[in-house]
Amino acid sequence: MEDWQGKTAVVTGAAGGIGEAIASQAVARGMNVVLADLDTAGLSSVESGLLKHAASVLSVPTNVGELAEVEALADAAYSRFGSVDLVFNNAGTMTPGSLLKLPYQDVRRMIDTNLYGTLHGMKVFMPRMLADGAGHVVNTSSLNGLLAYPAMGVYNGTKAAIISISETVYHELRARQSPLGISVVCPGAVKKEQVAGMVGGGSKSAADKISKFREATGISAAEVADCIFSGLAENKFWIFTHHNFHDALAVRVDAMIGETEPIFELPI
Ligand SMILES: NC(=O)c1ccc[n+]([C@@H]2O[C@H](COP(=O)([O-])OP(=O)(O)OC[C@H]3O[C@@H](n4cnc5c(N)ncnc54)[C@H](O)[C@@H]3O)[C@@H](O)[C@H]2O)c1
Repeated sequence: MEDWQGKTAVVTGAAGGIGEAIASQAVARGMNVVLADLDTAGLSSVESGLLKHAASVLSVPTNVGELAEVEALADAAYSRFGSVDLVFNNAGTMTPGSLLKLPYQDVRRMIDTNLYGTLHGMKVFMPRMLADGAGHVVNTSSLNGLLAYPAMGVYNGTKAAIISISETVYHELRARQSPLGISVVCPGAVKKEQVAGMVGGGSKSAADKISKFREATGISAAEVADCIFSGLAENKFWIFTHHNFHDALAVRVDAMIGETEPIFELPI
């Protein structure tokens, strides 16, 4: 899967961060790009930047948590470009804090955006891609989907669900010898100025700790996008940006298999 020239990618959460970096990489590979995000000003700015590279770009303001909006996104993408080859279900939000303390709307926002957003992208685009005989979906999870990072339980849960559903769909596609493919990306920390989601009622102290951790171990969004396209070129299901989590995951799984108390180790 290396020749993307002239093909079409849909990227959700494309108004900044990793989504913007994925869109830039797709354009650099000669792809048409459909940018989707809640943030319309951010979308316009990313679109203007990409148009300087003579890219074919369509921006569609979209709340991925709403099925009808993702259907409208697909209608717009197919009507402009005729087909869709790659779908990046990347939009995500994170409000740090314990489930017991987080305002309900922050809990809902994470589940609606991260989990339903990904499911909507799969439910809407995969049947259309199947009808065209090809396509690949890339779902963005996180190392948080593999490890129970403290004060991030709801976010961890959405990302764990994305891994579980993506892995199951992978097996289903294989069993049917489907022409469709699926990958799951589990980024580690990405350097950024602000912890996403702090617009909500999250925990300031947890956000500060996460910011420090990101400073210490974070890579750039462009490096994440590089890893993703390299992983796709190698036809990988699992795409990791960091490999410092192996011991922490082994300790967790050992505790599970040994039925001892759960153990969390911070991958550093
Ligand atoms: N930044 C990290 O350290 C990190 C680590 C692991 C995984 N991730 C995941 O990578 C993805 C991208 O993260 P990022 O760091 O680029 O974040 P970001 O906050 O920079 O970008 C996320 C984008 O998603 C958009 N968005 C939020 N809710 C939306 C909705 N309901 N519908 C459409 N768009 C919506 C935002 O407007 C924003 O442009 C997310 O799924 C995130 O959970 C990030």
